[in-house]
Amino acid sequence: MKHLLSIADLSADDLHHLLDLAADFSQIQQREIKKVPALRGRTIVLAFFEDSTRTRLSFDLAARRLSADVVNFTAGSSSVKKGESLRDTIETITAMGIDGIVVRHASSGVPNQITQWTDAAVINAGDGWHQHPTQALLDCYTLQQHFGSLEGKQIALCGDIQHSRVARSNVDAFTKLGAQVTLVAPRTLLPASLEGWPVGVETHLDHVLGDLDVLYVLRIQRERMGDSLLPTVREYRTQFGLTPERATRLRPDAVIMHPGPMIRGVEIDPEVTEDRRSLVLDQVTNGVPVRMAVLFNSLGPGQFTPVDGGVSEQ
Ligand code: NCD
Repeated sequence: MKHLLSIADLSADDLHHLLDLAADFSQIQQREIKKVPALRGRTIVLAFFEDSTRTRLSFDLAARRLSADVVNFTAGSSSVKKGESLRDTIETITAMGIDGIVVRHASSGVPNQITQWTDAAVINAGDGWHQHPTQALLDCYTLQQHFGSLEGKQIALCGDIQHSRVARSNVDAFTKLGAQVTLVAPRTLLPASLEGWPVGVETHLDHVLGDLDVLYVLRIQRERMGDSLLPTVREYRTQFGLTPERATRLRPDAVIMHPGPMIRGVEIDPEVTEDRRSLVLDQVTNGVPVRMAVLFNSLGPGQFTPVDGGVSEQ
C-alpha cells in the first residue's frame, strides 16, 4: 500500500499487519543504536501547513531512524505566505525528487487531493476534521500493548467530537479491532449526523464512567470552532472534565488516554495527568515505531528483518 490517507482504507488485517511491524520497530528502539538502514537513500518531506509538536517530531525521528533523508517544509516560512498555491507548492517539492510526503493541513481532503499532483507516497498526518490515521494506529498499538487485545473493550471518547479528526480515525480503528465505542459529549460538540458511525452516544460522562476500560479524553478545539459552542469552559469542566473525583470512579484497571496537546484544567485536571492509569506518555513513545511502520510500509522495498535491521527483497 503506497498512500496512508484514512483508516477507512484499511481492513482489520491491514491494521494488524501495521501493528506487528510497529512491534518489530519498537524492539529496535530498545537497542543502544536505534537506527536501521531500511529506507537508506529515500527522501521524505514533512509538509506541515498546520501546527504540530508530537506528530511532526515523531515522523521526523521515525524517518531518521530508518535512515531516510528528511526535509522539513513549514508553510509559515515558505512561499505559501507570498500566495503560492498548494498545487504549485506540491509540484515544486515533487520536482526535487522525493519519495514520500507527510502532510498536515487544516482542510479536510488535502492529502487525497495531493495524490493527483505527485507520484510520491502521501501520508496523512492530520487533515481538518477528517482523519489522523497514524494517531489511531499508535492508540491501537498502545491499547494492544496494555491489554493484549482491543476485542470487547469498552472505550469512551469524551469531548469535542465534532471538530476531531482523532475521533473519526479512532472510532473506525477501535471498532475494526473489536472494541465497543461510546461518544460522550454535549450535543453541540457532536456531529450533526452520526449515521454510519458504529457507536453509542451519551451526553453524561458520569453515566458511563464506571463501565469503561478506556477513557479517551479529547481537547476542546477552539481554533476549529466558529461560533461559541460552549457556555463556558468552567461549565464544560463541571460536566465533562476528568477531575480527580471522577478519576476515583473509574475502575482501577481502566486507563486514561489523550492525543495531546492537553489543556490542563479544562478537559483534564493537572492531578489526573499524574494518575498511574494514564497512558499519555506511552502514546507519545509509541508514535515513533508506529510511524516507522507506516513509512516502511509505504516506501520500503520488501519485508523488514529485525535481526540485522535491514530489508530482504521479496
Ligand atoms: C491532535 C491533532 O492535531 O489532531 N493532536 C495530535 O496530533 N496529537 C489532537 C488535537 O490537536 O487536539
